[in-house]
Amino acid sequence: MTELRLAHDDTGGDCPALVLLHGFPHDRTLWAAQRDALAARWRVIVPDLRGFGTTPAIPPFTIDRFADDVAALLEGCGIARAVIGGLSMGGYVALALWRRHRDRVRALVLADTRAAADDEAARARRDALIALAERDGIDALIETQLTGSLGATTRSERPDVVERTRIMMRQAASIAGVVGALRAMRERPDATPVLATIGVPALCIVGDEDVITPEREMRAMANAIPGSELNVIPGAGHLSAVEQPVLVTTAMQRFLGSLAPPTT
Ligand code: MLT
Repeated sequence: MTELRLAHDDTGGDCPALVLLHGFPHDRTLWAAQRDALAARWRVIVPDLRGFGTTPAIPPFTIDRFADDVAALLEGCGIARAVIGGLSMGGYVALALWRRHRDRVRALVLADTRAAADDEAARARRDALIALAERDGIDALIETQLTGSLGATTRSERPDVVERTRIMMRQAASIAGVVGALRAMRERPDATPVLATIGVPALCIVGDEDVITPEREMRAMANAIPGSELNVIPGAGHLSAVEQPVLVTTAMQRFLGSLAPPTT
């Protein structure tokens, strides 16, 4: 098994730890607004997952391995337990962290994600995206993802956010990284049975214009996690953290402020 250290931002300081995991095909800058806003009270660790941004695309690519990479990063940073937040693919990794390394998880923030595994149609879409990336290149894949990821409000009223997201995806994505991650997501296990086992505080977040992981699915996830809450973000699609950064940060601040002081 290839060991690699995830490239990451670490805001440092003697504060409780918060790890924020990006989605597909993104890098750590997805969470830049939350990192900057929360750094006064939290040690915010924001990695580039395996194959994205400046972390090399070295196999193996599985969601479990992504979770193991994050656990190894925590170990390397000397952090015993952290609040783990993840958006979309980052949420898949956060749920895998709970399954494989739950002693490291103090609380969860699950944004615009889902617990269910891919069905046959979703697997076929992964295969089509892999073929698109390999045939037409990374920009073709990025344009496809961009259209689906951003909400109607952002696409019609906020060209600056559309352009920033495009730039973020271009700096994040390589053919090897996206193909590896698409295969990892296609093969990920169903995390639905895991939800009832979550014994730490959990905040679920979803943009009300998210068409990839819609509100009804996130509501079902929140209902399945004991004691969790759902925060619906108006005027945001699948990338709620970049489309409505202030609203997402405020929801996270309120949730993080409600947590009991860390014991480790
Ligand atoms: C993401 O934003 O990470 C993707 O939509 C996840 C996926 O394709 O399942």
